[in-house]
Amino acid sequence: MTAPSCDALVLFGVTGDLAGKMLLPAVDALIARGQLEVPVVGVARHDAHGAPIAERVRHSVERNGALDASASARLAQALRYVEGDLSDPATFAELRRSLGEAKRPLFYLAIPPSLFAGIGRLLAQAGLASGARVAVEKPFGHDVESARELESALERVFAPDAILRIDHYLAKWPVRAITQWRAANPWLEQAWSGAFVRSVQITMAETFGVEDRGAFYDAVGALRDVVQNHLLQVVAVLAMELPDRADAQSWQDARVAALAALQPISPELVVCGQYDGYRDIQGVAPDSQTETFIALRFEVDTPRWRGVPFCVRAGKRLPLTTTEVYARYAPPAGVASASHVRARLGPGAVDIGVGLGSLQQPRDADATELRADLGRDEDHHAYVTLLDAALRGDASYAERADGVLAAWQVVEPAVHAPLPVHRYARGSWGPAEADRVLPAGERWHDPAPSD
Ligand code: BG6
Repeated sequence: MTAPSCDALVLFGVTGDLAGKMLLPAVDALIARGQLEVPVVGVARHDAHGAPIAERVRHSVERNGALDASASARLAQALRYVEGDLSDPATFAELRRSLGEAKRPLFYLAIPPSLFAGIGRLLAQAGLASGARVAVEKPFGHDVESARELESALERVFAPDAILRIDHYLAKWPVRAITQWRAANPWLEQAWSGAFVRSVQITMAETFGVEDRGAFYDAVGALRDVVQNHLLQVVAVLAMELPDRADAQSWQDARVAALAALQPISPELVVCGQYDGYRDIQGVAPDSQTETFIALRFEVDTPRWRGVPFCVRAGKRLPLTTTEVYARYAPPAGVASASHVRARLGPGAVDIGVGLGSLQQPRDADATELRADLGRDEDHHAYVTLLDAALRGDASYAERADGVLAAWQVVEPAVHAPLPVHRYARGSWGPAEADRVLPAGERWHDPAPSD
């Protein structure tokens, strides 16, 4: 899985939201640690009415508040810029000049997915694709068919193992820690199956909306933005069989096998919501039916999990920001009180809780919990990991083509179904209709604010 290291980094979309929030802070962290010594080139569309590119980058970094003044100065020194029309061969000729002697650049496409294939073609025409690696952000396509088309378009230009399909959840340490935790604790691993677990819930809650990226989000929605990728990755590491060998390839094989075992969701078990005020956002259609909340249920078709409902929900403008897994255990015969395993995966607090049931209130499984605080994880940390790996030629933090397709197969039935969108109040846990996806007798576990 390891190829030669890259000798330059090119960030397409360097003035954009993703670059300002995640990529540039990650670049800065790697430079500060002495792990990034190759040239870094930022590419962005020319803006005849806007400020020069260097200033736009500085504004974007400042607006996102992720970097201090010394970091901004370090970045300003390290970056070279190419500005132009991203469909004009002249921009790519200029990029070629700017790359000088570099033979193995990493092109990171932090731009709208509709531009990926065209940029690939222009890179090839400019003689820049051979020997290069390309990183593309999720969502990779918008359904099974378009993901296949995008893969072929990229493979026409880049070697298959030079294509890095980025899903930053794959580089989050709390997500990867799930399999380490399972492997290190046979007592848990043995009870980690449908023989003991009654249901698994995953909630990805975010307090913020999509104010600064209405146009992108309105074309995508929660299912494609975070379920097809991030949350199915969390399901995969929870559900996968632990590999016999500890190498990265075996881990990837086991994870992708778990994705392939997820049952396609049935549209009757999907509930969509949209928060009040969403349609007033710039870039959002006034009659938008895009979901900013989604709840769904499906099963994992493996001997370990067959029959266990996995319930997933994700939403913007919910009461707090965190992603939390909550597995409910079935109470043993004759015991009134049940237990649970809970894992909070950040952003922010990361912890694990094991419920012990309750002696005082037998029906309340939440009452007594052994909790271990594992620290914190911030959004851009995953980008430091994945960018470092991508530059070193290590593909094990990126998604494979078969993984992307397996995940699309899971959500495909809902992608094209005309699902009603229920309104919900900002700061609530989404529309009440979301309860409909739960099995009889279940309630959603709402993550609590962390201390
Ligand atoms: C991004 C989505 O991929 O992930 C955003 O486009 C979402 O809508 C973000 O907010 C969540 O990432 P994290 O690391 O904050 O959970």
